[in-house]
Amino acid sequence: MSALTRSAAWQALAAHQKKIAATSISALFAADPSRAERYSLAAGGISLDYSKHLIDAESMRLLAALAAQAQVPEWTGRMFAGDPINNTEGRAVLHVALRARDARAEVRETRERMRRFVDEVHGDAGITDVVNIGIGGSDLGPRMLTRALRRLSKPRPRMHFVSNIDAGDLDAALAGLAPATTLFIIASKTFTTAETMENAARARAWLTSGLGRSADLSRHLAAATANVAGAAALGVRPERVFPLWDWVGGRYSVWSAVGLPVALSAGMDAFDELLEGARAMDEHFRTTSLERNIPAVLALLEIWYVNFFGAQTRAVIPYNEDLRELPAYLQQLEMESNGKRVDRDGHEVDYDTAPVVWGASGTPSQHSFHQLLHQGTRLVPVDFIVARESNPSEAQLALAANALAQSAALAFGNPAPGAPHRALPGNRPSSTVLLSRLGPRDLGELITMYEHKVFVEGVIWNVNSFDQWGVEHGKSLARTLSPQLLDGRGAGDLDSSTRALIERLRKRD
Ligand code: F6P
Repeated sequence: MSALTRSAAWQALAAHQKKIAATSISALFAADPSRAERYSLAAGGISLDYSKHLIDAESMRLLAALAAQAQVPEWTGRMFAGDPINNTEGRAVLHVALRARDARAEVRETRERMRRFVDEVHGDAGITDVVNIGIGGSDLGPRMLTRALRRLSKPRPRMHFVSNIDAGDLDAALAGLAPATTLFIIASKTFTTAETMENAARARAWLTSGLGRSADLSRHLAAATANVAGAAALGVRPERVFPLWDWVGGRYSVWSAVGLPVALSAGMDAFDELLEGARAMDEHFRTTSLERNIPAVLALLEIWYVNFFGAQTRAVIPYNEDLRELPAYLQQLEMESNGKRVDRDGHEVDYDTAPVVWGASGTPSQHSFHQLLHQGTRLVPVDFIVARESNPSEAQLALAANALAQSAALAFGNPAPGAPHRALPGNRPSSTVLLSRLGPRDLGELITMYEHKVFVEGVIWNVNSFDQWGVEHGKSLARTLSPQLLDGRGAGDLDSSTRALIERLRKRD
């Protein structure tokens, strides 16, 4: 048994779970008229209603004790101080430094350069389209936020995102674009990622074939990378290479120059507001007690269901088309960070870590997977994300009404005496995260809230949330298989399944 599962805090939670499992969300509401108020938290523009969970005061007290036992506040201090808490790579984890008030000189300088670049592009009527080429953290964050802020998007440039090594992705983005008016941003922390390098080479070839071999391509290329030399080798002009640093993890990099698409689309002032929101949530997280701390409470609820109720998944359902990309963004943030099976000392864990995160925007999701949420056999805690509108249209009110209807139906069910197929059992937990408005500041707070939630979980599960060795192996395997698919050489050393599949793929009709 691990020290965690042996610990008094864990054992107390396991015993308490039996008591809670015997009650219901309906009964908990009936017993406490002020439940909604008691289990609500607010910070900046974010408010969290977590009353529709299978918890009582004792659950939250015991969960907070688990976090204290894991020394969450001490680890938080270490992260903000720049200790090398990414132990397998010997790196600091300082995405918080990208939005700090007294940011380091290199961060401030890069942001100033970003501002000038954004002004330059906005002032250059000749550039109508910007294509961001990147993958994982170099794609999902800017893609999600550019869409989330699309109400603010400038008429020019139009933003496009390409990530897949499948040439169809780039082809689709380039359809209708002209080389003379297109700018590519190559976003890659390492500047070695196969998909991005391949797409960057294709983009370059597209520019050359459109503009001529002797054309100066530098006006059409920019890069966000920690590998400045790599970007120079591709022909990106030094003043168009925006650095990031090894203390910024890819999936935490949207606050760096990787966020350029957001700034180009919504404006640099909006990007600054995003950072302000992130900073405000950092402050809330750093200074608020565990019981009142929004990221910590969300982490504790996740641990409650994953480790004590056996939940395997969590659904994220934004009731807003502008937030449609949020589930994909959170998949990387949460599953790449905490999808780990050994602890910080390399020992296999005897408890579950990150659940499968999935979701889609409501209301379309109601007509695809909500049936399972309401009447299926699995426990799936849900995060509903709803944005207030200062002057809502009827359609926006209908959207919010649907979100509230779903969370109420999950919690309280719907009895149908004599018709079991119609009955909704209820007792299905969800959180509702309300944004005061869908603006850059609230979005900065929202994303930071999830970053710190992931951090708290990692500390309690005693895993390194900041490496991704599982992904690295797949990358190097693909590198060896590519030539084998091309010419069949060396395939003899492979397992029989992979070898047979290669043979079938190599067959020409
Ligand atoms: O998916 C693995 C990963 O290493 C992510 O962590 C990262 O966001 C992505 O690849 C892209 O990496 P890079 O920005 O170096 O191209």
